[in-house]
Amino acid sequence: MAAQKVQIFDTTLRDGEQVPGCKLNREEKLVIAGQLELLGVDVIEAGFPVSSPGDFAAVQAIARQVKEATVCGLSRAVENDIRVAAEALRGARRPRIHTGIGTSDSHVQFKLQTTREDVLRRAVAAVKLAKSFVEDVEFYAEDAGRTDNEFLARVCEAAIRAGATVLNIPDTTGYCLPAEYGAKIQYLRENVTGIEGVTLSTHCHNDLGMATANSISGVLHGARQIECTINGVGERAGNTALEEVVMIMRQHPYLNLHTGINTRLLAETSAMVAHLMSMPVQPNKAIVGANAFSHSSGIHQDGVIKHRETYEIIDPREVGVADSSIVLTARSGRAALAYRLQKLGYDLERAALNQAYASFLALADHKKEVVDQDLHVLIEQQNLVTAG
Ligand code: KIV
Ligand code: ZN
Repeated sequence: MAAQKVQIFDTTLRDGEQVPGCKLNREEKLVIAGQLELLGVDVIEAGFPVSSPGDFAAVQAIARQVKEATVCGLSRAVENDIRVAAEALRGARRPRIHTGIGTSDSHVQFKLQTTREDVLRRAVAAVKLAKSFVEDVEFYAEDAGRTDNEFLARVCEAAIRAGATVLNIPDTTGYCLPAEYGAKIQYLRENVTGIEGVTLSTHCHNDLGMATANSISGVLHGARQIECTINGVGERAGNTALEEVVMIMRQHPYLNLHTGINTRLLAETSAMVAHLMSMPVQPNKAIVGANAFSHSSGIHQDGVIKHRETYEIIDPREVGVADSSIVLTARSGRAALAYRLQKLGYDLERAALNQAYASFLALADHKKEVVDQDLHVLIEQQNLVTAG
């Protein structure tokens, strides 16, 4: 059977940009939208048009600029939000309105201070209104992760009947376990009439560090769209990281799932978003962190020098990183030192290498990292003999 496509819905410019300090101006948003299109995302959630005149203008500009991807605007299940979103998206080739409402008891009682029946009614009215403007309407059941499955199924079924084309099942608070989230998607597939005609979408937050695992569990149970952000930026602990879910599906071909992402652009896209949002990527971040392909302990370095696959499951070039790196620290072994010295043009005899290694360790114990300049000085000061 041919691999099935999982749509990538990027919400860096909406859920990602909500983070304090990450605010982008319109030009910066246009640059990121252009890069997301190059990267091959299927949907760009460009913003929340009713939230401010600036966001409206940015969504409008992105809608006019983007050629291939669907451009989506968020709205609550509120008439004015939907009208404003529709207006902002008017120039888009493929517009989508993303509308919805909280469905968990906590949202119904405390946030909306209403009843489940009223939520159901508002959900239907919102989808119908959005549908009067655009063909492609995505409905979100906010806090679906903590929503009772029976009620969630009723809301989803009503949204489909009202015209929704995509159903978003957000784990808004990052609460679910992967098995629980997967079972929720499965439950909806088995209990919602008409669900085979719509796309089920995951939208997971990372409060317990499980956003990626939950999204993957969702697609393993039949979701065919993942909502995510570059570098996992987003509210609180963030959203599902785009680069992680894409590479998981790529590195596990037996899952029979694929995306349209050009993975060789992941590193540069990550760097662009980190720079424009002033949100540095943690060094140990999977796929795009500075240490993701660097090896510093002697045992690992020896393995990687002999064969990259001993300690790397991804060829760094696949994600746009030129090469793995061997970082020289006090935990490095002779093999790593010899390897780096060779790259610098020093091919040492065994005795000279032993001597260089002793000096290297003495230096490394006092430094976080020994760099090429240190090695030149070390070799020259000791006047070590090179082989051949
Ligand atoms: O996390 C969430 O529930 C959201 C919705 C607005 C889709 O971001
Ligand atoms: Zn969210």
